[in-house]
Amino acid sequence: MKKLTILGSTGSIGTSTLDIVAAHPDRFTVEALTAGANLDLFAKQIARFSPRLAVVLNEELAGRLKSMLPSGSGTEIMSGVDGLVAAATLTETDMVVAAIVGAAGLVPTAAAIKAGKDIALANKETLVTAGHLFMELIKRHNVRLYPVDSEHSAIFQSIEGHRNADISRIILTASGGPFLNTPVESLRSVTVGDALNHPNWSMGRKITIDSASMMNKGLEVIEASWLFDLPLDRIDVNIHPQSIIHSMVEYIDGCVIAQLGTPDMKAPIAYALSYPERIPTGVKPLDLTQLSGLTFAKPDLERFPCLSLAYRSMSDGESMPAVMNAANEIAVEAFLEGKIGFSHIPELIEMTMDSHQPVALGSISDVLEVDLWSRRCSREFCMKMGNKY
Ligand SMILES: NC(=O)c1ccc[n+]([C@@H]2O[C@H](COP(=O)([O-])OP(=O)(O)OC[C@H]3O[C@@H](n4cnc5c(N)ncnc54)[C@H](OP(=O)(O)O)[C@@H]3O)[C@@H](O)[C@H]2O)c1
Repeated sequence: MKKLTILGSTGSIGTSTLDIVAAHPDRFTVEALTAGANLDLFAKQIARFSPRLAVVLNEELAGRLKSMLPSGSGTEIMSGVDGLVAAATLTETDMVVAAIVGAAGLVPTAAAIKAGKDIALANKETLVTAGHLFMELIKRHNVRLYPVDSEHSAIFQSIEGHRNADISRIILTASGGPFLNTPVESLRSVTVGDALNHPNWSMGRKITIDSASMMNKGLEVIEASWLFDLPLDRIDVNIHPQSIIHSMVEYIDGCVIAQLGTPDMKAPIAYALSYPERIPTGVKPLDLTQLSGLTFAKPDLERFPCLSLAYRSMSDGESMPAVMNAANEIAVEAFLEGKIGFSHIPELIEMTMDSHQPVALGSISDVLEVDLWSRRCSREFCMKMGNKY
């Protein structure tokens, strides 16, 4: 029986994780759940899974949640970062599913590693902002890190039993999102609804916008570089609109090993939870005879400047990926709130990056400081941009 803490249980990854837990009560139990502000769903999850501990964003929400639970509920309620850390480090927990969105996942994920918990990592922003610190923590505390992102799970599955030295490159696939064929000049006028309309994947709002701008692929390139210890020049991106091949590894002998499947996050989540075994997920089996074709192309960097910005942030190094990540979070939030247009997202990120001189990050507090600076800086640019928009 594997005992889980799920950080971000009310999100897209969190709810899919709970579906898997519910389908395998003989394998998994839930010790702690955390949410942001979606109390209605969270109260239902608490009633269904009876965790020891449940955590919400702040004290006010904690008070409201308590009043929604039946008297005599055995679940302790906490809030804020202290609550997240308590959930991540709970003595009974074996594995922490890190599925909070954004840099908010940094502190609890680091705390979980320090407490010796294995990690199923969905929250790619932790590796983007502080990859060197996280990989060092993982080694020092001897914990296992299992990728949840479908591309990284595909690489993880295609790499097993092979030597890192035998890899010539990895190829991350990208669907290209809803704007793959939209004329570049029309990207200025696309709406939030257009951007949220992803052709293949159903995901949270932030990652869906990141997929439309291809910042998601940029974040994944950085994540892959840390996870698989590969330099950027050995990580390529191919546009593959069908999302059937989830990524591939090319070896020095010319062989390529790929992982295929129906696009459904339950498969990589289940593999992270049950590794090295495989368990039924309910994911629709792939019928290759029903596919009309699998196509591949190089990404168009004029259409998707966010991808170049991600590569640039890694070559600039040190604090630049954290600055880029925070600026992207502000830009996406501003776009979702209708304050800026879609094409302003890369502009805002680039202006923030141009205003920053990379500095070495020696601790998670250093990362959080740079993250705050970037948020302040990009909010200022955003206000100026918003006035013009
Ligand atoms: N969705 C996917 O298919 C997918 C695939 C690969 C990787 N990922 C990665 O997985 C992570 C989660 O993505 P998602 O799509 O599941 O996101 P999502 O649907 O937006 O869910 C995010 C979760 O985090 C909680 N949360 C948000 N801000 C928080 C904060 N400041 N403090 C504490 N909790 C907070 C939310 O709570 P409330 O909703 O209750 O406010 C929710 O439970 C992201 O890093 C994403 O890049 C997602």
